[in-house]
Amino acid sequence: MSELSVDHLLGIKYLNKRDIDLIFETADQFKEVINRPIKKVPSLRDITIANLFFENSTRTKLSFELAEKRLSADVINFSASQSSVKKGETLVDTVKNILSMKVDMLVMRHPNPGAGVFLSKHVDARIINAGDGAHEHPTQALLDSYSIRERLGEVKGKNVVIVGDILHSRVALSNIYALQLQGANVKVCGPRTLIPKYIEALDVQVETNLKKALQWCDVANMLRVQNERMDITYFPSTREYTQQFGINKDLLESLNKEIVIMHPGPINRGVEITSDVADSKQAIILDQVENGVAIRMAVIYLLASKIKQ
Ligand code: NCD
Repeated sequence: MSELSVDHLLGIKYLNKRDIDLIFETADQFKEVINRPIKKVPSLRDITIANLFFENSTRTKLSFELAEKRLSADVINFSASQSSVKKGETLVDTVKNILSMKVDMLVMRHPNPGAGVFLSKHVDARIINAGDGAHEHPTQALLDSYSIRERLGEVKGKNVVIVGDILHSRVALSNIYALQLQGANVKVCGPRTLIPKYIEALDVQVETNLKKALQWCDVANMLRVQNERMDITYFPSTREYTQQFGINKDLLESLNKEIVIMHPGPINRGVEITSDVADSKQAIILDQVENGVAIRMAVIYLLASKIKQ
């Protein structure tokens, strides 16, 4: 039987190519399930999952919850703003209390990079990282690659540019690892101040001219400027950012080919992407969201199957 090489999904960094293939093959089956009139399978009736969100989320939280429910797992939700974390309880204490209620798996979003890795050393449960600060967001990268595979046939050999705030983006780092594992070529494009110094050590080229980057790529993944993670000013103004690094219809039409446009959401319409591009046929933004449920079902199912052994 095929199984994942890992017991938790803490980051793409810990996966191998076979893991990604297995997740995609499993997601193909779940995508078929969620397009049926009865979108549910009884696979995880004996599993309880806690969604722990210490940071805001719309898509990711709903997507995980739907994925869990479509697998028939029991689900409990926790959001830090309404919890005893505010009363001074430590992360490990909070989680140990939750686990004593016979919870098998944790999905956690946390502002601190490495929070999932830390927790995995202190508690006995499968952990899925739903975003740890500016570090990794593995299910987002998986659903992004899955959506590229769906649109372009395969990820291998494709040229992908990630545009925008690379420095503060967990989506960027997880995408870089995932795309490279699958044999894609990756470039980043954005203001120099928003490109981390270590990027070249990851074998990723930097292109500061957006038009050149778009001429090179098959896929452009547009990221949001993460203002909430910034304590200094990284570029002169939003208007100037948009002029240099925003994508619009005229720019796309000036290329001599059609590229695929992605965005993890939430979109800032008119900043990194104009509405006509976001809503165009070239954009696969809502396919990404749709695929997110199947990908998360696959990850949860594959990790849960390791619990029973
Ligand atoms: C991203 C996130 O939270 O990291 N969104 C998401 O999960 N779909 C990106 C962002 O917030 O810009």
